[in-house]
Amino acid sequence: MGADLARVLYTEAQIRERLAELAGAIDRDYADKDPLLIGVLKGAVQVMADLTRAMHLTTETDWMAVSSYGSGTKSSGVVRILKDLDRDITGRHVLIVEDIVDSGLTLSWLVANLGSRGPASVEVCTLLRKPDAAKVRVDVRYVGFDIPNEFVVGYGLDYADRYRNLRDIGTLAEHVYS
Ligand code: IMP
Repeated sequence: MGADLARVLYTEAQIRERLAELAGAIDRDYADKDPLLIGVLKGAVQVMADLTRAMHLTTETDWMAVSSYGSGTKSSGVVRILKDLDRDITGRHVLIVEDIVDSGLTLSWLVANLGSRGPASVEVCTLLRKPDAAKVRVDVRYVGFDIPNEFVVGYGLDYADRYRNLRDIGTLAEHVYS
């Protein structure tokens, strides 16, 4: 599977180290807020697992699955909920956990959707962010790495639902696409 990567952007160790830093910041910022971390399936599974285990606060976690209509690898911002939250978030301090923010369309929809349910606050933590995200007005409070505009896989990120279980994050070799 590793042979399908053209270039490694971040190794497992680099990801772990950066997530530990983010976990420390979240621990401090939410010390008295009893945060509810909401992961976006399926890509955020690995981030959520390692981020929450690096935190010292006990947290509640919940999951949403959404599908974003789009062509190929671009999302359109038209979003459908495939799996909603298991709980009411009224009055809760919500932290959305994402693998990657690309156009930011999915995320801005999600922030608005969750924001309409009466939470005390909604913030976002993403492991990766691409340059296009700057075009959409979504404040992302915690960012692991800002990356160039390339398609990446691994550590939860997929190409046609594969490569999520790669431990590193990298770009795919040409032969995979052809
Ligand atoms: P956005 O609405 O354009 O921000 O799309 C975000 C979603 O697109 C992510 O949650 C991923 O599922 C997918 N995505 C965007 N860029 C990549 C990438 O480089 N690799 C894998 N999936 C990506």
